[in-house]
Amino acid sequence: MSNSILLLAPGPVQLHPKVQTILSMPMVHHRTPEFDLIFKSALDNLKFIFQTRQPAFMLSSTGTGGMECLLVNVLNPGEKVLAIINGKFGERWAEMAQAYGAEVIRYDIPWGQAASADEVKKYFEQHNDIKIVLVQACETSTATKNPIQEISTVVANTPALLLVDGITALGAYHIPMDEWKIDGLVGGSQKAFMLPTGLSFVCFSEKAWKKIKITKNRTYYFNIQNELAANLRGECLFSANVPLIRGLDYILHRMQHHGLTKHFSHIAQRANYTRSMAKIMGLELFSQSPSESVTALKLPPNVNGVKFRDDLEKKYHLTVMGGQDQLKGKIIRIGHMGYITARDLHETTLRLTRAFNENNYQMNLNEIDYQSKTLLEGQV
Ligand SMILES: Cc1ncc(COP(=O)(O)O)c(C=O)c1O
Repeated sequence: MSNSILLLAPGPVQLHPKVQTILSMPMVHHRTPEFDLIFKSALDNLKFIFQTRQPAFMLSSTGTGGMECLLVNVLNPGEKVLAIINGKFGERWAEMAQAYGAEVIRYDIPWGQAASADEVKKYFEQHNDIKIVLVQACETSTATKNPIQEISTVVANTPALLLVDGITALGAYHIPMDEWKIDGLVGGSQKAFMLPTGLSFVCFSEKAWKKIKITKNRTYYFNIQNELAANLRGECLFSANVPLIRGLDYILHRMQHHGLTKHFSHIAQRANYTRSMAKIMGLELFSQSPSESVTALKLPPNVNGVKFRDDLEKKYHLTVMGGQDQLKGKIIRIGHMGYITARDLHETTLRLTRAFNENNYQMNLNEIDYQSKTLLEGQV
């Protein structure tokens, strides 16, 4: 087990051991030749993760700051924004657009279901002046994957821009920015990058850059034109988060060394394992469109979800997430990103089983132990 407390939340995640070492290294200043090299290397290699030829950026902010950066650099007050909402983070982006003076049109979808590209097309038929579409690649609150490629096919045929919150997708599964014609994509360090919270990553398409140039600037910290100018000089605009960027540089090299396909397949394997075990345990998936990065499982009706999670934390030292808002107490969400070994997966299953047995849902621990080992055979 890599930690005595097992952290299998959909972010923050267990850190890569090498990252833990890097984080304890002596500090260097961010305006030094030593840091310049790391900064340049990390910026160049980020493009590989976005699968783009456009400049990629890192910001000292959480993911929400990255969402704000994408939005505020392309939105003029009063413009129409179509917000695709199938969970808590969709709600957040719609609220943000409203706060920046957009006219927000909501495409509300029941939680657990994915967006439909055909429906998006209908919104464009009703409103030919939509300027921006907002969507989560993976809506983490419901562990639901949205069909980004299909949606981008619709949006790319219009003058509107497609902004995608890829905070639990970028680095976790295939989401090629250029090939899929995504206009703005954001990721977060505390997810597939195996780092602590504190960096967000953003990238804009050529189509988006044209809009940036004609958008009334309403941000100081997130002004992407100023950030680009600084980056082209080999500098960051403001003080950089040196420890995290050093960790990022290591992770990006590692991802390149292994290749994205292999990196993604490890995450997908954990998702497959979790779903197979859930079936054996008699637990149903919540989402109708499950994501590789996180799985949501419905709790049996006789299990008190709040107490169950409390037991997991206090007695079993296992952090998985519960449901938010309307799903509070009804689901648990298990993350597949981060540094997770096969032993961690097995141990997670055993701790869950013990906690279920104490919370009105009986399972045979020996049988679960055997089935889990069989599924994990050959994995490290
Ligand atoms: C899809 C999605 N969007 C946005 C966020 C917000 O990111 P942060 O908490 O880093 O601001 C999260 C965080 O879990 C997320 O999963």
